[in-house]
Amino acid sequence: MPSVRAFWINAALLMVKPVLHSICNEKFKQDFPSTELRNSGTDRNTHLEALARSLQGVAPWLELQEDPEAVALAPIARCAIALATDPNSTQYMAFTRGSQVEDAHQRQPLVDAAILAHAMLRAPRQLWGKLERGVKRNVIAALHLTRGIKPYMNNWQLFASIIEAFMYSHGEQVQEDRLLTGLRLHKEWYLGDGWWGDGPEFAHNFYNSYVIQPMLYDILTALHHRQGVESTPQFFIQEGLGELETLVSEGMSRWSSLLESFVHPDGSYPVIGRSVVYRCGAFHVLSLAALKHLLPSHVLPGQARTALTRAINRTLDASVTYDRNGWLTIGLIGSQPHLAQFYSSQGSMYQAAAVFLPLGLAASDPFWTDPQMPTTWEKLWRGEQAAS
Ligand SMILES: *[C@@H]1O[C@H](CO)[C@@H](O)[C@H](O)[C@H]1NC(C)=O
Ligand SMILES: *[C@@H]1O[C@H](CO)[C@@H](O)[C@H](O)[C@H]1NC(C)=O
Repeated sequence: MPSVRAFWINAALLMVKPVLHSICNEKFKQDFPSTELRNSGTDRNTHLEALARSLQGVAPWLELQEDPEAVALAPIARCAIALATDPNSTQYMAFTRGSQVEDAHQRQPLVDAAILAHAMLRAPRQLWGKLERGVKRNVIAALHLTRGIKPYMNNWQLFASIIEAFMYSHGEQVQEDRLLTGLRLHKEWYLGDGWWGDGPEFAHNFYNSYVIQPMLYDILTALHHRQGVESTPQFFIQEGLGELETLVSEGMSRWSSLLESFVHPDGSYPVIGRSVVYRCGAFHVLSLAALKHLLPSHVLPGQARTALTRAINRTLDASVTYDRNGWLTIGLIGSQPHLAQFYSSQGSMYQAAAVFLPLGLAASDPFWTDPQMPTTWEKLWRGEQAAS
């Protein structure tokens, strides 16, 4: 019987390999489907969405270089980054503000450039260090272009912040205002019990997991590592970012617990708020906490793996999830295009790859070696003892 880890690797490859190979073969912009139905105006952005979101999920696995599949894929991923950021390439992607009708479509490149920066922060050797010098120059130039796009007053603030955190950690010039505004605002927007508002207001959806907490965590981590040297910068102390770090740590613990307890034995879970078409990407925080060994003590690694495996199995069933050319469809279970927000394209769907972060843990880690364990849902509904 194939191991659970092999099941995860197959699921990850099924999602991201077609995207990375197609870009590297210079066919992606021609072959990737135009947006379905009512989600028009997104075609300019969809390619960078698919690339960036694919990479942010598998980055730790590529960085680990333990599995032959990851060894084979890393150069393809670098090739895709090189072409996507080369203005002379057929695969050059959109990093500037667009001229579509909808303002959100115009500003979308900021989102996906930020997610690309996030991916590169998660694989500093494989997706950054090993890029050729000229490619690095093009990547930095592409990220600079997004400085012309103003983020909305919500989780988008972190898109500007993470790009600057990437610049900071690699010793590039930083726009301090774009770095710090999002962090200052997220100190204000904390609501309690591990929840941030999406902006100043509470929003009942998975954005704490899709974006807010994972970006805060990786931004704050990046600010402690400048050009490979561990230190805490002066502005970190001045801005009281240590307090924000404490809140993020509480939030991730609370959300990991919540997300693990959501998963029904059949892999379904509550469908809450906008962007549920990101499928099991809803579990981003649980996956990140497992990767960083930050799960709360009552969620054992094997329990987290059991819950995540079920959610992956339920939402990425290969027989209904991909179209006949192997691209992710818009939907939660199979193709359900009307579930999507107006700004979502098929490329946006690759946010689901965020669930694959624990593949960055070696096969010898308890996350993989723990036996299958009853999840909190199972224990509680059987009348057994469990913390929640
Ligand atoms: C694009 O091609 C032109 C002409 O070959 C060259 O001068 C320029 O440096 C190239 N730009 C980049 C960013 O590689
Ligand atoms: C996925 O779900 C199917 C159908 O319920 C089940 O037979 C299979 O064992 C599951 N796979 C994993 C890895 O849990």
